[in-house]
Amino acid sequence: MKSVASAPGKVILFGEHFVVYGVKAILCSIDKRITVTSKLADNNSIKIESSLGKIEANVDSITKLKDPSAVLMKPLIYIVTKTLEKFKKNVGVEIKIESEIPAGIGLGSSSACCVAAAASVTGLFEKLKREEILKFAIEAERTIFQNTSGADCSVCTYGGIMEYDKKNGFKKINSNIDLGLVIANSAQPHFTSELVNRVREFRENNEDLFVSLCEQESYLIQKALSALEDRDLHTLGKLMSENQSFLERIGVSTQKLAFLIEEAKKTAYGAKITGAGGGGCVIALTDKTNLNNTLTRLGKHVDCFSARIDYKGLLDTF
Ligand code: PMV
Repeated sequence: MKSVASAPGKVILFGEHFVVYGVKAILCSIDKRITVTSKLADNNSIKIESSLGKIEANVDSITKLKDPSAVLMKPLIYIVTKTLEKFKKNVGVEIKIESEIPAGIGLGSSSACCVAAAASVTGLFEKLKREEILKFAIEAERTIFQNTSGADCSVCTYGGIMEYDKKNGFKKINSNIDLGLVIANSAQPHFTSELVNRVREFRENNEDLFVSLCEQESYLIQKALSALEDRDLHTLGKLMSENQSFLERIGVSTQKLAFLIEEAKKTAYGAKITGAGGGGCVIALTDKTNLNNTLTRLGKHVDCFSARIDYKGLLDTF
């Protein structure tokens, strides 16, 4: 028996960092997926294979593995062991992960992997509801990112565009806007927790300015929600570039990111960092009239690809 599930990656359209201080953020899932295939095995071992490596160990000893691949695969080990415990099964499980989402650059590969794995592994025994899978995926992700807000797993589960804030959680935005995103990978490593700490320091040293930036960001996000409803790409692009200027003020841009954004803006409707910054990716907003020339322009400098919004979210086939 085989159980296959896939989940999309994500980008943050607006509000990264400010979301940590209670401002709303807008996220959307992208049409690049991670697929997890699980099967039962006769022996009592767990086998996990992905681009991050390959591990195999007995059900009872797998949580004690210390090699680097096992550390990276902690959420997957958690999903398999907890599932066997929940369904009281004394069997082995093999899982294989195939990804279209580059890892470690802020495109939600870890969350998508947790969501797809939670659905695929539990699907060997029972089809759970989406909200149960989401809860399980967030628990698994907490084994490596203790403070995850759960927003990434939420958008990977339900797909589409959503607004998120710390107090009210996530809410789906019912816009079927058709936008093209060019995603450019700066190839500069980015460490979310380091950047979050840097912004905390900035806030401590610039209290009034930070309060004012949060207010401006909230206002900008209200305008972005209207632009999404009106499917107004010109306004949305301008707002993305404006959001970028706030991110620059709080010190999470780099020279390379700023250069890529300026290049993108020559043809795209707007561009900004997506995620924590300090490296990672830039997103540029386009439609079919300017997608290819933006892709060519940025492609001269770094690896980039185009993406659209994924409206399907988690998909499973048993
Ligand atoms: O680059 P990412 O996907 O890890 O983005 C983190 C987003 C932050 O707002 C910077 C942090 C957070 O927990 O919301």
